[in-house]
Amino acid sequence: MRRIAVVEGDGIGREVIPVAAAALRSLHPDWEQIPVELGLERWRRTGTAIDDADIEMLSSCDAVLFGAVSSAPNGEYPSVVLRLRRALGLYANIRPIMGVSCDLVVVRENSEGLYAGRERIEEDRACTERVITRAGTERIARVACGIAARRRKLTIGHKANVLAADRFFLEVARGVAHCAGIPLDDAFIDALCLDVLRRPERYDVILVENMFGDILSDVAAFHVGGLGLLPSANLGDGHALFEPVHGSAPDIAGRGIANPVAALRCTAMLLDHLGDRENAHRLGTAIDRVMAQSILTPDLGGTATTQEFGRAVLEEL
Ligand code: IPM
Ligand code: MN
Repeated sequence: MRRIAVVEGDGIGREVIPVAAAALRSLHPDWEQIPVELGLERWRRTGTAIDDADIEMLSSCDAVLFGAVSSAPNGEYPSVVLRLRRALGLYANIRPIMGVSCDLVVVRENSEGLYAGRERIEEDRACTERVITRAGTERIARVACGIAARRRKLTIGHKANVLAADRFFLEVARGVAHCAGIPLDDAFIDALCLDVLRRPERYDVILVENMFGDILSDVAAFHVGGLGLLPSANLGDGHALFEPVHGSAPDIAGRGIANPVAALRCTAMLLDHLGDRENAHRLGTAIDRVMAQSILTPDLGGTATTQEFGRAVLEEL
């Protein structure tokens, strides 16, 4: 028996997460799914987007299945997902990008860099510090090496030609990779963004600091047909949260056209993380089969609704 917190959040999170949760329920009817409301809609209703009790609830679960939370219209509350990443110690963001021409894993440092929270706005200037620590770099490099050890090689993306923090990141990460005996290369992040588009077959596991990973994963999504397909795992030493790379997409919310593939692949990653390799694989295969039958949502040129796609996956299962 497992306890899974299910956070639909806002926008299309409320459409794709029910599909992902239904797939999970069909594979594990015995697992407890605990709905937790977080985000903009809750803030509108109650004045709070997330509180300490929510964090405690999520921490007590074996994993979190997370949709997307809209940011506050005028900064009334800080980012819910950033607070969760911090509170649960989710320092590794794993973003597999698997398509016809591409089989990559972006390993994004998830706790520091420009997201370290060291910011100030003054009268005539604003400043966000980009913090790279040895401990933070070593622990994400170990995660990346662990993944690369089961695959081909590791590439470190950076801007060490210009930024001191990146020379530090590169040197520390290289040290970890050498110790682990992982085949290694590195590339400037700007050139890497273009080369990943041109020659994805050259890359396997790519390790990047926080903001570069944010951008690179969206860039690489080009190969799989867009953001509607990419899942991610936010991992820490004791907690795990699975969320689509896409956001709450208010522009298409409520129309039943959101692509649930990213959310379904999050369920597969969650199962894998909790040791159920077999069902993770079954779910991945079911998604692939449905797509191969040209049952596709409009973002991929099809006419299926979110729910129709979900039902087809359940039938395959
Ligand atoms: C992502 C998102 C988040 C990020 C936002 C919503 C805080 O873009 O998960 O890629 O910047 O990390
Ligand atoms: Mn992003």
